[in-house]
Amino acid sequence: MDSEARPVHADVTLTVNGSERRLRVDTRSSLLDVLRETLGLTGSKKGCDHGQCGACTVLLDGRRANACLALAVAHDGAEVVTVEGLAADGRLSAVQEAFVENDAFQCGYCTPGQLCSATAMLDEARAGWPSAVTADVSRDPFLDDAEIRERMSGNLCRCGAYVGIVAAVRDVAGETNRAARDPGAVAERIKEASRT
Ligand code: FES
Ligand code: FES
Repeated sequence: MDSEARPVHADVTLTVNGSERRLRVDTRSSLLDVLRETLGLTGSKKGCDHGQCGACTVLLDGRRANACLALAVAHDGAEVVTVEGLAADGRLSAVQEAFVENDAFQCGYCTPGQLCSATAMLDEARAGWPSAVTADVSRDPFLDDAEIRERMSGNLCRCGAYVGIVAAVRDVAGETNRAARDPGAVAERIKEASRT
């Protein structure tokens, strides 16, 4: 083999679902392949491998990301949470419980990505981030069905469990929506931010 064509490896450290993992990775490897093939965490699925289906969604430093589009070597030191890490102390997360209660999955192939995406998008809404369909960006977003659909639109489900998925996210959005209804909450947050 031409020496210039040889794979290049690099050492990276990732904290995956709370455990530090030191790894030697091919610099061309995606985070998804490292999670699935090196670490054996097969919850994150490879659907399109092109950033189009959301099946590979994980939380990367607290934000949702398509693991198929992330080069592992570019995320040395990152914190990664996969679907395997959403439950804690043997208990499902609120989002996982809501998916079960609302029958929000059928084949299960897209579900790990949907769960990670829903978890992060609820955090984004709690932090006041608007979406493309937020009518009034000066207020906390109210997660109605249109907001939920828009914010979850990067995650495809080919067998059509969308009705259950929207219902599950709506169930967990209760507290966020109560805050969004309270006009004082935004003023309080602005005051809080100006104090820091
Ligand atoms: S496998 Fe990553 S978005 Fe489809
Ligand atoms: S539940 Fe997997 S594609 Fe719909």
